[in-house]
Amino acid sequence: MKKLLIILCTSALFLSLGSSKMPETSAKKTMNIVFRGFMGLIPYMSDPMKFKDPANKVKIHTHLSTMRNAFSNARHVKKFSLPGINPSFEQVKQHLKETFDAFELGQPDFARVRLRATGQLCMTCHTQLEPNRGAVGQLNLISRSDFTTDYDYAEFLFLIRDYKKAQRYYEKDIEVVIEKTQEMAKMSKISKKLKATYKGRRIEDSLEKILTIHTKVKYNPIKVISLLDKYKDHKNISAHSKQRFSSWVSSLNKWKGIKEIQINRENQLDKFLSKYVSKYETEVAMQGGSHEVTLLIASGVLYKHLLKNPKGETGAKLLYWISKIDHILSNTYLYSLSELYLKRCITEYSKSSWAKKCYRSYEDQINIGYTGSSGKFIPEDELKEMKRLKSFLRD
Ligand code: HEC
Repeated sequence: MKKLLIILCTSALFLSLGSSKMPETSAKKTMNIVFRGFMGLIPYMSDPMKFKDPANKVKIHTHLSTMRNAFSNARHVKKFSLPGINPSFEQVKQHLKETFDAFELGQPDFARVRLRATGQLCMTCHTQLEPNRGAVGQLNLISRSDFTTDYDYAEFLFLIRDYKKAQRYYEKDIEVVIEKTQEMAKMSKISKKLKATYKGRRIEDSLEKILTIHTKVKYNPIKVISLLDKYKDHKNISAHSKQRFSSWVSSLNKWKGIKEIQINRENQLDKFLSKYVSKYETEVAMQGGSHEVTLLIASGVLYKHLLKNPKGETGAKLLYWISKIDHILSNTYLYSLSELYLKRCITEYSKSSWAKKCYRSYEDQINIGYTGSSGKFIPEDELKEMKRLKSFLRD
């Protein structure tokens, strides 16, 4: 009986593998499924108690596996194999798998934190695409009341590329944060001389996203200057944040005369790189905001060029610089995929001279990453990976 069952099962497996072609999957279809899972999780994401409640376990499990499976079934989607897009795809796939595993292993707090970070990963892909005019179809089913804060709703709108509305809600959130800061100060009877200043990250987070919209996603530096002007001198914002906003403004003022950046030919690309980007080859991660505007603008330009020119030397060169920029902006803006871009540069363009540069850059990042106060310790797995990557290079 057992034997028969095994035979039945294996033949069913073969049949199902052989009988039909792989179902056609498109980016759009995948995203619809991902979105269904994501939407189902929204009510639990911002509430740790709901996320932990055993009564919700089955639902959360189902939505998480829907999302995880949608990505792992999308290997054949052409768009997801493009060199600028693929690192995001691989990362989100891995991230969702680990999030799902954490949840299954009874670590709901950890799973929830990871899940909330997923949105930032989704954005690494979406910010390379053209903006959407507004939410359509099933996206319209979601409204402000599904979220706890204006900020969470703004993040959602940013994710679905409804940038105009996202900006509105980020701005609303900033006002609420400032108001709350003042109320708290009043309640704790801080003397009137001491101004109530907000010292957290939230206002910077919101303004980073708004800045990203007008630099990286759609180049339009003028559009964001007046808003930043308002906050760079605001009496309820900490000096540290204001300093950063001021440096954004002075940087944006330098760009304001340049109406648009057109890059169609190779020599235009090289000119752009040598004028704005190549100086970041040697400078280590810079503090303050003065470089951020230029790097955000450059990353938008390079991603767009890579979508149209994924092949040969140009593709390799673009990945190299995209990775550099991503590394410098690191986790401040979205999620850093720097190492993945380098890997892709090495494996896909092994014949290019840029592959060697990418490898060197990768080696540096790993060495720095694993060097601590007690010296350098690179784990075995990573050493193996470095060896694998090196084997792609020509001597
Ligand atoms: C590998 C790249 C990539 C990643 C990662 C990604 N998306 Fe997308 N997403 C796309 C593309 C491409 C489209 C446009 C599809 C179309 O309409 O052709 C899209 C569209 C969407 C849409 C439709 C609205 C819109 O913006 O056009 C939703 C909703 C969506 N994605 C949700 C998500 C969520 C949630 C995540 C993260 C869990 C995510 N996506 C991660 C590539 C990605």
